[in-house]
Amino acid sequence: MGEWEALEQQCLACQGCGLAQTRQHVVFGVGNREAEVLLVGEAPGAAEDAQGQPFVGKAGQLLDDMLTMIGLHRSQIYITNSIKCRPPNNRDPLNTEKDACAGYLRRQLQLMQPKIIVCLGRISAAEMIRPDFKISREHGQFTEKDGVWMTALYHPAALLRDPGKKPDTFVDLKALQKKIREVCERTPLAF
Ligand code: URA
Repeated sequence: MGEWEALEQQCLACQGCGLAQTRQHVVFGVGNREAEVLLVGEAPGAAEDAQGQPFVGKAGQLLDDMLTMIGLHRSQIYITNSIKCRPPNNRDPLNTEKDACAGYLRRQLQLMQPKIIVCLGRISAAEMIRPDFKISREHGQFTEKDGVWMTALYHPAALLRDPGKKPDTFVDLKALQKKIREVCERTPLAF
């Protein structure tokens, strides 16, 4: 068994925190494991918990539309969440749950070695970029950390709640498209 398969098997059987008792499915991640671009959301919601895949509910449909706008398809990237199991009623994950789960994303990063990490929403950006990351001020900006380009977009669920943020996100998506053209070698964009 390869390292990815071993990690996925371990994650799918995880009993590391109380969410193991309430989840329907562990949501490990989907897409191309050799992708140069990694998208990281927050935690699975109800649809994701039911299907075992990230971003398959309404926010996921919007995410697909956002990717299409810059000529990207899910199959070219990898999508996961910082927390792999749904917190009941979508409450914020507890620190103990975050700590129990952190190793899976860390290992996914080590195995993937992406060139660009796109955080979806404030919570993911705070985990991945800086604890005091201000999404309203810093969305769409790129910073390089250990040779990896990092940025954050408004979470698609936030865009559904407040469509007034969509024009900013379009600008951010164009910046992402430009960065992919600059630093990725194996991520052809449809246009
Ligand atoms: N929101 C997230 O952050 N992740 C998902 O997988 C779905 C909704």
